[in-house]
Amino acid sequence: MARLWVCAAGAAVLVALAALHSRFRGSPVLRSFTFQTAWRTEEVLYRLDVNWPEYSEYFTGATFCVAVDPLNGLVYVAQRGDNIPKVLVFTEDGYFLRAWNHTVDTPHGIFAASALHEQSVWITDVGSGSYGHTVKKYNSFGDLVQVLGTPGKKGTGLNPLQFDNPAELYVEDTGDIYIVDGDGGLNNRLIKLSPDFQILWLHGENGTGPAKFNIPHSVTVDSAGRVWVADRGNKRIQVFDKVTGEWLGAWSDCFSEEGPSSVRFSPDGKYLIAAQLRLSRLVLVAAPPVGSLGHCAVISTVQLADQVLPHLLDVSGESGAVYVAEIGARQVQKYVPLNS
Ligand SMILES: *[C@@H]1O[C@H](CO)[C@@H](O)[C@H](O)[C@H]1NC(C)=O
Ligand SMILES: *[C@@H]1O[C@H](CO)[C@@H](O)[C@H](O)[C@H]1NC(C)=O
Repeated sequence: MARLWVCAAGAAVLVALAALHSRFRGSPVLRSFTFQTAWRTEEVLYRLDVNWPEYSEYFTGATFCVAVDPLNGLVYVAQRGDNIPKVLVFTEDGYFLRAWNHTVDTPHGIFAASALHEQSVWITDVGSGSYGHTVKKYNSFGDLVQVLGTPGKKGTGLNPLQFDNPAELYVEDTGDIYIVDGDGGLNNRLIKLSPDFQILWLHGENGTGPAKFNIPHSVTVDSAGRVWVADRGNKRIQVFDKVTGEWLGAWSDCFSEEGPSSVRFSPDGKYLIAAQLRLSRLVLVAAPPVGSLGHCAVISTVQLADQVLPHLLDVSGESGAVYVAEIGARQVQKYVPLNS
């Protein structure tokens, strides 16, 4: 019991900070701000960093996604809107560095490849303009390096690769690429590409059975060689062997209320961190060690204010900080682990 009390206090602090930090002061959304019980379980693991970023004025659109390059200490944010910069680059300390919008139409997902001598960022674009329905690689300054897909044309073809609302991607240090396609388009695919963009394996069927998808929305790879996919429409996470593509299992117990929109791991591999968009909730699930998946067990939840709408998130592999792109609140917030 004592432990629970401590946690309840922690929750109150966190919600208060979240409110203070809110960027929609005075807006209609703020007025409907309701304070809900923040931590429904025993452990408070993160606190909101109210000083990140230094100036929030750079968020001028709907912030759909965020990616951390921990090696170079960079945070990339992509936002949607008219006549605004689409990609914002900050430092992990919260300083704004630069922005660009050329060749970015309607960003959905983003991934920062963390290499010592190469700073690059990948974006999935769901726009219908001439750069839409592609997966693009940029250098850190916004120069376009690579385009995958058929620009401006959505579709179900595979040769050349054709996407329909590509949702997100994950790039391994080896250069292997995992793409989830997509966000409610005609395709429901998980594709693994080699570093020279050949298809290594894919699962491509719409449906509810094993290895089928309904809005595969986010993808990540763990250190045990497993690929984790937020199968949002099916309210589950599915897991695959990264080498063979073999289906290893699925978790649905933790997501009966709403499917996960985002999936990432803490750097120590202990927690899987998921977002639930419409519930405005972050969920920390105990990550299973190597081998069988076992059952899904929620360790902690962070209840954000109503209408914050956390869409996609990323975790710094160095500090363990969690950056959350909130479409409704039109901002990215940073949560730091309490025990760091
Ligand atoms: C690109 O961003 C600049 C501000 O950085 C803005 O003035 C311009 O209108 C934007 N262009 C587009 C096409 O959104
Ligand atoms: C996929 O299946 C679901 C039902 O399982 C359906 O709602 C959805 O429209 C289907 N999507 C496509 C692209 O066929």
